[in-house]
Amino acid sequence: MHISQKKFGTFQNQEVPAITLTNKNGVSITATPFGASIVEWNVPDQKGVLDNIILGFNQLDEYIEYRPYYGATIGRVAGRISQGMFSIDGKSYQVSQNENGNHLHGGIQGLDTKLWNFETKKRAHEASIIFSCEDQHGSNGYPGNIMVQVTYTLTDEDEWKVAYSASTDQPTLFNPTNHVYFNLHGDISKNILDHQLFVHAETYAELGDSNNPTGRLLPVEGTPFDFREAASVSQSTESDHPQTKKVSGLDHPFVLNPKKDQLDASIFDEETGRKIEMTTDQAAVVIFLHNGKAEGYTLNGQPIEAYSGITLETQALPDAINQENFGDIILRPENPYTSETVYRFVLES
Ligand code: GAL
Repeated sequence: MHISQKKFGTFQNQEVPAITLTNKNGVSITATPFGASIVEWNVPDQKGVLDNIILGFNQLDEYIEYRPYYGATIGRVAGRISQGMFSIDGKSYQVSQNENGNHLHGGIQGLDTKLWNFETKKRAHEASIIFSCEDQHGSNGYPGNIMVQVTYTLTDEDEWKVAYSASTDQPTLFNPTNHVYFNLHGDISKNILDHQLFVHAETYAELGDSNNPTGRLLPVEGTPFDFREAASVSQSTESDHPQTKKVSGLDHPFVLNPKKDQLDASIFDEETGRKIEMTTDQAAVVIFLHNGKAEGYTLNGQPIEAYSGITLETQALPDAINQENFGDIILRPENPYTSETVYRFVLES
C-alpha cells in the first residue's frame, strides 16, 4: 500500500490536497477533503491499460464552481425532501429549497461543499482516508450539531469501501450517500448505455412531480426497471415506459433487500472486462444515468454528454421522512449512525 498527496487547489485560502491510495495491483483511488469526494479510480482493462473509471475533474476549482456532485459525499440527506419540509417528534422544520421548491442533496451548503478534515492510515493490505466534519445546528435549516465521519478504504482485493458514522446532540435527519458516477470504458467519449446492469431489487420507487417519490413502490417485473438478471442499461432509455420517459432514462430508487455478503448491484463493460460489484447495508440504491448533457463545463476539456456515467447511490429511500414505509432516517443522540457500502473492482476475462 502506498499513500501520496499533491496539491489539488485552494479553498477559502486553504491549500487542499488530493490524496492517492495505491494497492499492490497498481489500482488507485484519489480523493479530496473538499466534499470528501472521490476524484479518480484507476483500474486496468484486459490489456493491462489503466484508466480512470469515474467522473472527476483534475482540479478543485471546477468542483467549487459547478457543484456537479461528482464522487462527493452527499448529506445530511441525499435526494429530495419534498418542499424542504418535515417534522420530527411533532416539531416542524423548513430546510433550504435549492431545486424547484424542494430540498436536494443536503441543500445550498450540503456536506459536498464543505472542506472536511482528514487523516490517513496504512495497514498491511489496506489503506484509508478518514474524513471528518462537524455540521452545526441550523446548517441548511437542520436541527442538531452533528459529527460525521466518512472513511474511504482501498484494499488489496481492489475494493473501495465507504464507511459512514455520525452522531448528533439533538434529533435530526441523516441519510448520506456517495454520488460517484462510473464509466467503465474509462473514456467519456463512450457512454454507459452498453454497460450490463444488475440490481437485486424486486421493486422501485415511482417518481411524481419534480422527481419526488409518490410513495408507491412498484414491481420491476415486466418493466424496464427489471435488472434482476443483468441487462443493458439501454433497456431503460429505449423503453416507452412513462417513468423512464419522464426522466429520459433512470433517476430512480431501487429497493434492496441487503444481506451480509450478498451482491446488491453490479455494472459490467464487456469491451474492457471491467466490472464493479456493489454490496451495501442500505435499503435502496438510486441509479441515475447523467440523463442530460452537462451545460457550462467540460471534463478535463471533453464534453460531458448525456449518459456519460451511471451512479449507484446507496441510501435509505429519498423523502423517507415524508413517506410511510420508506424507512427511518431520524438520527438521535442515543443512537449514532453507521453504514457501509463496498464497491469491488473485478476484471473478467
Ligand atoms: C441525482 C438526482 C438527480 C440529479 C443528480 C445530480 O441523485 O436523483 O435528479 O439531481 O443527482 O445532478
